[in-house]
Amino acid sequence: RTVYVNGKYLPENEATVSIFDRGFLFADGVYEVTSVLDGKLIDFDGHARRLARSLGELGMRNPIATEDLLEVHRELVRANGIVEGLIYLQITRGAAADRDFAYPSEDTPPTIVLFTQNKPGLADSPMAKTGIKVISIEDQRWARRDIKTVQLLYPSMGKMMAKAAGCDDAWMVEDGAVTEGTSNNAYIVKGGKIITRHLSNDILHGITRAAVLRFAREAQMEVEERAFTVAEAQDADEAFFTSASAFVMPVVELDGAAIGTGAPGPVATRLREIYLDESR
Ligand code: PDD
Repeated sequence: RTVYVNGKYLPENEATVSIFDRGFLFADGVYEVTSVLDGKLIDFDGHARRLARSLGELGMRNPIATEDLLEVHRELVRANGIVEGLIYLQITRGAAADRDFAYPSEDTPPTIVLFTQNKPGLADSPMAKTGIKVISIEDQRWARRDIKTVQLLYPSMGKMMAKAAGCDDAWMVEDGAVTEGTSNNAYIVKGGKIITRHLSNDILHGITRAAVLRFAREAQMEVEERAFTVAEAQDADEAFFTSASAFVMPVVELDGAAIGTGAPGPVATRLREIYLDESR
């Protein structure tokens, strides 16, 4: 694989980052995941905008102009022959001289890393046909989930808790309401209405979420942006989640209770088709 580190394209085994990098020592970094379908980037502009916002919220310098970032994405897709897959981007506050909680001086260059993940068949995932099972867990993350930081230990633990329970993912719950999945935004459908949590600092403002809600409204589907409970989700007609890596993914079971018929529902199935058609 050809990867990108601080201005250079290198074979992955030659790419290195300092042990004093703030991303490594303090999870002091942000990231984006952009999907590639038919060799083309999906929603690059949205990901670039959210990246700039995440950096701004953490007072981190943006080391790369958006048009240059686009060029790096395109070059990595080309160099690695990606037809379907993902591009991972991470920017950290860079390598300080030593370990210190205080940020390093302003002139410390940020670290920027990009790599591709080849995922043939990403759009044709068999899981989209069967749907996936989730458990609910307490949301123990920090209170700025709108910033896409690399601080992902709790979501990783959640994923392991789900696997231990024979499920695929965990939906996190705070004050009785679902916030989001470990790495996706959560939705239910009741009486034809699509319900998903409103935007705030409590959840990541998903780029796929924005696109899916726009397509749903254009297709005259009713959308309500509000918090919902686990009980409401178990009693819903359908459930699904969205992310750049899974697009629209039906959820058919929550904490052992079948949702609707226990199979992917018509709304989730249609939204997945619309999303894959319209965003390509
Ligand atoms: N995760 N919520 C969380 C907590 C996420 O980590 C993600 C994305 C989303 C969906 O956002 P988007 O539609 O912009 O991908 C929601 C990425 C895919 C990841 O961590 O791999």
